[in-house]
Amino acid sequence: MNFWNDLPKPIFVLAPMADVTDAPFRRMIAKYSAHERADGTVGGPDVMWTEFVSADGLVRATPEGKEKLMADLIYSEEERPIVAQLFTSNPEHMEKAARLCLELGFDGIDINMGCPDKSIEKQGCGAAMIKNPQNAKEIIQAAKQGAKMREPDGIPVSVKTRLGYNHDALEEWLPAILEEAPAVLTLHARTRKEMSKVPANWDRVKRAVEIRNKLDSETLILGNGDALSLADAEAKVDATGADGVMLGRSIFGNPWLFHPLKSLPEQIVLLETSSLAHSSSQAEVSNKFEIITLEERLRVMVEHTKLFVELLPFKNFSVMKKHYKAYVNTFPGAVELRAALMEKNSPAEVEEEVELFLATLTTK
Ligand SMILES: Cc1cc2nc3c(=O)[nH]c(=O)nc-3n(C[C@H](O)[C@H](O)[C@H](O)COP(=O)(O)O)c2cc1C
Repeated sequence: MNFWNDLPKPIFVLAPMADVTDAPFRRMIAKYSAHERADGTVGGPDVMWTEFVSADGLVRATPEGKEKLMADLIYSEEERPIVAQLFTSNPEHMEKAARLCLELGFDGIDINMGCPDKSIEKQGCGAAMIKNPQNAKEIIQAAKQGAKMREPDGIPVSVKTRLGYNHDALEEWLPAILEEAPAVLTLHARTRKEMSKVPANWDRVKRAVEIRNKLDSETLILGNGDALSLADAEAKVDATGADGVMLGRSIFGNPWLFHPLKSLPEQIVLLETSSLAHSSSQAEVSNKFEIITLEERLRVMVEHTKLFVELLPFKNFSVMKKHYKAYVNTFPGAVELRAALMEKNSPAEVEEEVELFLATLTTK
C-alpha cells in the first residue's frame, strides 16, 4: 500500500526533529492542527515523521538499549499517516529494522541521508551517505525489502537528504537515488557543509523537480528548508513545482502551524508584512484567521508538559525546556516567565507558574 499516491497535492508534512517532534509533541500537533483535509479526513499535517532511530541499535542493542530506542517509535492513531525514520549504513540491519517498523504498523519508512551530526556520520550514516551513493542504493533496496514495498501488505520507502556534501551534487546525487525509485524524496535545500547557516536554496528544489520529470521518475519531491507557515509553503510549491513541503523549525511553540485557519499573532504579522499576502489586504489576512490567545498558548504548553511526562517518563525534563523557549516568546513578561520556567522540573510546578502569570494578566 503506497499511501503517498492517495494524498491530494500539495502535501504539507511535519519534519523529523530529534528531541522535538517526539510522540507527545506530535500528539499535540495532531490535536491543535486538526482540520478537514482535502481528502475529507480530519487531521493535522498530511504526514508525520518519527525522530530518527538507529537501525543498528534496533537490531543489535541489549534489551534495555532496545527499549530506549523503541520509545522513539511510540505513536498514536491520530498521528497517521506516520513514517518511521531510520538510519544505518548496514543493509542487513536496515532490512530487519524496516521489517520491524512494518510490523509495528507504521505507514512508511524514511531513510535519513542528511544528518550532519558527527557521531552519526562516523557510522557512515546521515549526510555521509551522500559520499557513498553505492551504499545509499543498497540501503534503499534493503529498506524496500524489509518494508515489502512491492507487496500488497507492504509500505512505501522514502529518502530525506541534502543537495550534496561539500558542494551541490544534485545533478549526480538525485539521479542515483531516483534509480532506486523511492516513493518520496525530501530535499533539504542546503549542502552538508552549509549546515543551516545559509538560506535554503529553493531554486534547487525546482531543479530537482525538473530532473525528476526528465527521468520520468514517479518519485514525489518534497522541498524542505526555512518554510515559515502554510502560506509560505504554498508559495514555495508554486515557485518550484514540488509535490509538497516539509516544515520543521516553524513548528516550535506552534502546534497550530498546520491548521489553515488558526494562527499565532506573530505569524499574522509575518503574513501581513510579506509578499505572501499577495493581493489580499491586511484586513483580509487577519479576518481569515482565528488568532490564538496568549492564555490558550500557555495552557497548551502545560498540556504538552503533562503529556510529555505521561508518555516519556524516563526522558530528561530538560527536553521540555527547549519548548518553553519557543512557547514563551514575543509578549510582555515573556522573559521573566521563561526564566522562571527554566527552574521548574515537573508539570505541577510549570502549571503553578503559568497560573500565577495568567492571574497577573486578569488583574491588570
Ligand atoms: C533540533 C532538530 C533536530 C532534527 N532532527 C532530525 C532528524 O531526526 N531527522 C532528520 O531527517 N532531520 C532532522 N532535522 C532536520 C529537519 O528535519 C529539517 O530538515 C531542517 O530543520 C530544515 O527544515 P526547517 O528549516 O523547516 O526547520 C533536525 C533539525 C532540528 C532543528
